[in-house]
Amino acid sequence: MIILKSNREISSMHEAGRLLASCHKEIAKLVAPGITTWEIEEFVNGYLQKHGASPEQKGYKGYKYATCASVNDEVCHGFPRKSPLRNGDIVTIDMVVNLNGALADSAWSYGVGSLQPETEELLKVTKDALYEGIKACKPGNRIGDIGYAIQTFTEAKGFSVVRDFIGHGIGSVIHEKPDVPHFGQEGKGVRLKEGMVFTIEPMINIGTFHTRMDANKWTARTLDGKYSAQYEHTIAITSNGPLILTDQEVV
Ligand code: MF3
Ligand code: CO
Repeated sequence: MIILKSNREISSMHEAGRLLASCHKEIAKLVAPGITTWEIEEFVNGYLQKHGASPEQKGYKGYKYATCASVNDEVCHGFPRKSPLRNGDIVTIDMVVNLNGALADSAWSYGVGSLQPETEELLKVTKDALYEGIKACKPGNRIGDIGYAIQTFTEAKGFSVVRDFIGHGIGSVIHEKPDVPHFGQEGKGVRLKEGMVFTIEPMINIGTFHTRMDANKWTARTLDGKYSAQYEHTIAITSNGPLILTDQEVV
């Protein structure tokens, strides 16, 4: 069942999203060769606490951290750790912020120092793919149009779309209906409706889209060891079209 949100609920989630967006902008300033994802995790915990919010991922299905920190070939759900990031790495920081009971979810990939041209291109294509997906959230469109837009854009650039993890509805809990695949067919799936709130969070790979699970049962990495990136926004469907609740441009 898809739970539609009132304008009031959407504006509370937007507040959580604004805080999350500003947290990502602070993280962008911190990321450099030598910093650890453990330090980013500690920064996020402190930042959310200072702003009266809490990290919703901590304790979710037994996950232990405020952030997921996925480096290089890690696709998602990497654990923060104490080894320093190195020049040329990429790291995706993903978190869910709870502000007064309202949630917002956003992941962002960061380049560490100077990147190989191919890695630079991966980040650009992945971010552009997210915005192609958001553009497809036009009134009257269906969920399948989002995945179709992302997949056709990404594959035309020579990259691949991860199938094993998808976007999701979000409300009073992290994962609700609808499922939002980043691949698929035009005109398929449920119709977009005012009041829907969901994430679009394409994970895009340089090589194969196949992933494998680490022994820790959380962290997925690319099967071929090539790099993977991810950008994620929480989106509300309004009478005026998609509203990005975690937009960093406006905070
Ligand atoms: N933020 C993630 C998402 O985009 C959810 C992470 S699952 C957790 O769906 F267990 F790590 F919280
Ligand atoms: Co997320």
